[in-house]
Amino acid sequence: MQTMEFDLAGAPARSAKVANATGAANATNVTNVTNSANAAAIKRAAWPLPPADAASSPAAVQARRLSKRFGANLILDQLNIDIGAGEFVALLGRSGSGKTTLLRALAGLDRITSGTLDVPQARAAVFQEPRLMPWKRAWRNVTLGMKLERTRERALQALEEVGLAHRENAWPATLSGGEAQRVALARALLREPQLLLLDEPFAALDALTRIRMHQLILTLWRRHRPAVLLVTHDVDEAVLLADRVLVLEQGRIVADITIAQPRPRSAERGEFQRVRSQLLQLLGVDLEPAAADGAAGNGDDHADDADHARADAPFAPSFNLSIARS
Ligand SMILES: Nc1ncnc2c1ncn2[C@@H]1O[C@H](COP(=O)(O)OP(=O)(O)OP(=O)(O)O)[C@@H](O)[C@H]1O
Ligand SMILES: [Mg+2]
Repeated sequence: MQTMEFDLAGAPARSAKVANATGAANATNVTNVTNSANAAAIKRAAWPLPPADAASSPAAVQARRLSKRFGANLILDQLNIDIGAGEFVALLGRSGSGKTTLLRALAGLDRITSGTLDVPQARAAVFQEPRLMPWKRAWRNVTLGMKLERTRERALQALEEVGLAHRENAWPATLSGGEAQRVALARALLREPQLLLLDEPFAALDALTRIRMHQLILTLWRRHRPAVLLVTHDVDEAVLLADRVLVLEQGRIVADITIAQPRPRSAERGEFQRVRSQLLQLLGVDLEPAAADGAAGNGDDHADDADHARADAPFAPSFNLSIARS
């Protein structure tokens, strides 16, 4: 595939082709990728019903029996996924479970090995690192790869939406992590995506900036209503933000949990804690009441895993975590 990484941070129309294993591609309004002999049969297959409020909206993403291999390694194994138009879905899964692989397939960055995939042409992606061109000012990073009329004005509007109009001329090196990520968001917004793909976009930010970014992303989502797929390791983030939370394991979606709690959500409510515990269990994390001696779970051996299934402050500070050995 010819498309460059930075281009796809904002997935312009010309990168909306998703090629199948044989290299065929089309660029109709909805990209349809198939190498299945019987795609119609696959589309009839029963698969998690959309949540009630999304039942009448068209699908933004529909993948059936989607598989992705890297050499001998099967990463996505006949996976099915549906995301309704305007729906906010979070994707959890252990490190290496294939979340980024799935997101890259949906973005059109990587070819799938087999299966069918329908995605809108207007897509944009934001990654953990903002992927700004250091030699371009903030506003030029926003319009990167786009041919627009009123370019600067449009860039400024997008920067205004993320609260960064005053930094339009800033060089990327002079932006804080949160600011740089907001430039990346502005760049994605300018593409007016019907599908916004977010791969751990807040992971590198400090806790307070992350909370502000949560609010910003919800505001932007309400205003523009793209379908969102947010990959995260942070269970609280998933439950706070999403309409539905999916869990990816061994190449498949093994849990699909609708979050019924109205927004703004409170981490203190029982429902939040119940869903949180359920998801942590699915991710192999056992919650234990805080030990009287203050011992913290299984200790340093699993510090990395614990970080990846983040369940730290500000939510539920009375629990310690231990990682289940599999
Ligand atoms: N281009 C590639 N070539 C070969 N193997 C790859 C490639 N990209 C990913 N993989 C492998 O696919 C598996 C899934 O990787 P992926 O990045 O999708 O996981 P992830 O769930 O996003 O993990 P993390 O939570 O750590 O970001 C890993 O074993 C990884 O090594
Ligand atoms: Mg990843």
